[in-house]
Amino acid sequence: MKLFIDTADIDEIKEAYSLGIIDGITTNPSLIAKTGKNFESVINEICSIVDGPISVEALSKEYNDIIEEAHQLSKISKNIVIKIPITDQGLKAVKRLSQEDIPTNVTLIFSPAQALLAAKAGATYVSPFIGRLDDISHIGMDVVDQIITIYNNYDIQTEVIVASVRNPLHILDAALLGADIVTIPFRVIQQLTKHPLTDIGMERFLVDWEKVPKKKGG
Ligand code: E4P
Repeated sequence: MKLFIDTADIDEIKEAYSLGIIDGITTNPSLIAKTGKNFESVINEICSIVDGPISVEALSKEYNDIIEEAHQLSKISKNIVIKIPITDQGLKAVKRLSQEDIPTNVTLIFSPAQALLAAKAGATYVSPFIGRLDDISHIGMDVVDQIITIYNNYDIQTEVIVASVRNPLHILDAALLGADIVTIPFRVIQQLTKHPLTDIGMERFLVDWEKVPKKKGG
């Protein structure tokens, strides 16, 4: 399973990449707004750090405008993936961009049927938003399960990015279901390595190590 980081924060991206486990990045307008920086400078900086797919959202609503925006965004770097919300106009744009070999990530997916349509349109990736479904008492991971079953039934090549991740259990569940990718906020990446028994174990080893004679006769 590939791991993406879900952020536009440059320090978080650098820190996560230094761990050597990150394969790509997803951003969205809210994450970019949180940086307080100018859109172009954030994206350019991300492109200078990240070697892997970088999802950047097109904000236009009409087909022609989405296409225009996608063309502009893909000029920035070969790694740019055009993130497009699932709408009728968005689907048409995904179809056209797939014919032009421009990668797309169809976002704001909340049902398996939406994911099926996105795949039919030629999406490179789909992003079901798990946490937001859990927030309204729907089991988000059930949607991922159904999307994966449908894609397997028809040998669909579109990759599933489990998004809107809130905690380490989402990553575990995504891996057990065989999701292609999970995109993770920095805070949750930090949680992943942690376990209280690891901390206790390290402490005990250090205490015991102090008791080991270090020199002959010591
Ligand atoms: C994914 O591509 C989105 O940027 C993100 O996962 C949304 O997460 P949120 O529901 O925490 O805003």
